[in-house]
Amino acid sequence: MTSRDFAVGGQLTEGLWAVRLPPRAFLSLACRATVPWGLMPHVNFWLTIIKREARMIRHDEITESMHEQPTLQTERLILRPFTLADAPDVQCLAGDRAIASTTGNIAHPYEDGMAEQWISGQAERFRNGEAVELAVTMRAEGCLIGAIGLHIHAEASRAELGYWIGKPYWGQGYATEAAQAVVQYGFEELGLNRICACHFGSNPASGRVMQKIGMAYEGCRRQHFCKWEVFEDCVDYAILRSEYESYREQPDGA
Ligand SMILES: CC(C)(COP(=O)(O)OP(=O)(O)OC[C@H]1O[C@@H](n2cnc3c(N)ncnc32)[C@H](O)[C@@H]1OP(=O)(O)O)[C@@H](O)C(=O)NCCC(=O)NCCS
Repeated sequence: MTSRDFAVGGQLTEGLWAVRLPPRAFLSLACRATVPWGLMPHVNFWLTIIKREARMIRHDEITESMHEQPTLQTERLILRPFTLADAPDVQCLAGDRAIASTTGNIAHPYEDGMAEQWISGQAERFRNGEAVELAVTMRAEGCLIGAIGLHIHAEASRAELGYWIGKPYWGQGYATEAAQAVVQYGFEELGLNRICACHFGSNPASGRVMQKIGMAYEGCRRQHFCKWEVFEDCVDYAILRSEYESYREQPDGA
């Protein structure tokens, strides 16, 4: 990943001790080898409690780091929280059929009020630790060019990356630049362990973005999605924290 200047709000989260607990399978085997049969129900009870606690600790660590919506800065972009003033631009850009056609959750036509409704819910979704949704804006001109976000599953310490860039701005590396910054925020500020993304088979440009930010191909869910009466393959990519860390060490991030 190229070294960019990221000014990120929020607290740095150190590693999660909970995920370093011995895997349950190992504990279970160790107990079976050493614990008398009569005590096994008690051991299983405590294993269940430990597992649930570990999940809750992961959840709390991530949500505790989400007290202020971040603003991320890259070479050419500023990713910032949306405001209601962005709604007309969101409607104009996301209202393009080309944006809806390759996404699972953007309506077409993009009716009046939809952008306001979406933006109005963002602060609460962030506070609840469910999502980070950011406006992609040009650093020089300040204009809105797209949106990017993470949908978070805090208990599993993972998130799904999603993005769109307005059609006039395609092909200039903006999605890649924004996605790099959000992946960095997800691992370094939220302390996530895994970030995944998927694209329709008919949308190789998005797959290319996933490759360029260091995600690995994980498989294809054939005809998983039905978009406008057409069955679409969903192609899965993801990057793990450990992969991100070694990817970040490479001089050119390639
Ligand atoms: C997918 C999308 C976000 C890409 O945005 P972008 O800013 O143009 O992306 P980038 O410029 O960072 O990178 C695009 C890459 O795809 C490549 N690409 C473009 N069209 C392609 C095609 N038909 N086949 C293969 N690669 C293609 C580009 O060459 C570029 O790769 P490169 O840098 O190696 O040359 C944008 O097209 C979009 O918003 N589409 C509609 C919404 C959407 O699909 N969102 C993603 C849902 S998973």
